[in-house]
Amino acid sequence: MSWPHLVFLGVGAIVGTGILTLIGVGADKAGPAVLVSFAIAGFVCACAALAYAETASMIPASGSAYTYSYVVMGQAVAWVIGWSLILEYSLVVSAVAVGWSGYAAPLLHAWTGMPMALMQGPHAGGLVNIPAVFIIAVVAAMLLAGTRKSATLNAVLVLLKIAALVMFVVVAVPHFDGANLQPFNPYGFSKTVSPDGVERGIMAAAAIIFSAFYGFDAIATAAEETRNPRRDLAIGIVGSMLACAAIYTVIAAVALGATSFTHFANSPEPLALILREIGQSAAAHFLALSAVIALPTVILAFFYGQSRIFFVMARDGLLPKALARVSRSGAPARTTAFTFVIVSIIAAFFPLDEIVALANAGTLVAFAAVAACMLILRRRSPDAERGFRTPAAWLVGPIAIGGCVYLFFSLPEQTKFWFLIWNLAGLAIYALIRRVRASKDRSAAFERA
Ligand code: ALA
Repeated sequence: MSWPHLVFLGVGAIVGTGILTLIGVGADKAGPAVLVSFAIAGFVCACAALAYAETASMIPASGSAYTYSYVVMGQAVAWVIGWSLILEYSLVVSAVAVGWSGYAAPLLHAWTGMPMALMQGPHAGGLVNIPAVFIIAVVAAMLLAGTRKSATLNAVLVLLKIAALVMFVVVAVPHFDGANLQPFNPYGFSKTVSPDGVERGIMAAAAIIFSAFYGFDAIATAAEETRNPRRDLAIGIVGSMLACAAIYTVIAAVALGATSFTHFANSPEPLALILREIGQSAAAHFLALSAVIALPTVILAFFYGQSRIFFVMARDGLLPKALARVSRSGAPARTTAFTFVIVSIIAAFFPLDEIVALANAGTLVAFAAVAACMLILRRRSPDAERGFRTPAAWLVGPIAIGGCVYLFFSLPEQTKFWFLIWNLAGLAIYALIRRVRASKDRSAAFERA
């Protein structure tokens, strides 16, 4: 592979619910200034991506942030990061499935007459989000059948996604009206609680929008299959990030200019809604259909990433070995089945913004850890071979860490509470596992003696 393939791979894994659905959540939190939220989230993510590229080029083993932390900062920190990655990957699967359902539900309703109450969670006035559970089941079945990545299929689906977004711009741009961008920043910069109890502001939106930019691990893990990793990996990661940032900026600007943000704020299918509002139902239909066809690739990428993290942690003895066992097709059957049950329940009953916020909490912690690993390795092993060197590392690294911390604190208060609970549970499990391992080691030593 060379860099154009990598950019394609990256765009395939990155472009998903973030731009298709969360733009509505972001607009609710920041108004037209969600454009600034996109810029901030993209910039922090790009700094983290550079650190990621350098660390991945030094430690080309699977397990991403968990493995880097293990090598650089030891087992206990690695556990916390691995535990955060489990949260991230699982919840992104649920989140993208809920986003998928937002576009699929109106189509299914029109085609089959299926009641909307069975296609939305209780938060949206429904009972259970059946389409979200359905698409997770389809992806889980594909993984169990041994599906990995098909470069050709990926390329076709990336082109379909891009075509749908280009069409959106072409159709909506004649309706651009600068008056829709006024007032530009109704809720201010830092997170504050509005009178209706919702946490709003540019940073509150950026903390959610952040999820639109990640998924580039797909490129870092392809390091060993790259012809000229030193150059191609960097161009791949930075190129796909820049491509996505450009795509997102244009889409967000056109969307916000085409209609007042109040019309599509918190919509489950904001881009299709905008197209319908400007009288373009056929285009809305095409966009929704493209989203339904192309979004499952993002679910597949994160579902696969989830089982890989389980696998690596189990191999290191930090999770039960049974989780690392693979079936005849080579798929980790148990972890896939287990993950399926958990992420389906979450997707069936919880709203997208809450799921994404908690996924982002895990991701922000992992990204800050990767940037810390990059800086520690610069100090500890300055002359070690690096496939890629982050430019201005002592500026980019601290920006990545500081940016992730600021975004983390801009997340909803409730999210931080649940993240704390998740980590306390994680640390209790870690203590238990260490105790069991120590007693096993003692028995083994006793038998040897
Ligand atoms: N970047 C991915 C998305 O937007 C997670 O869906």
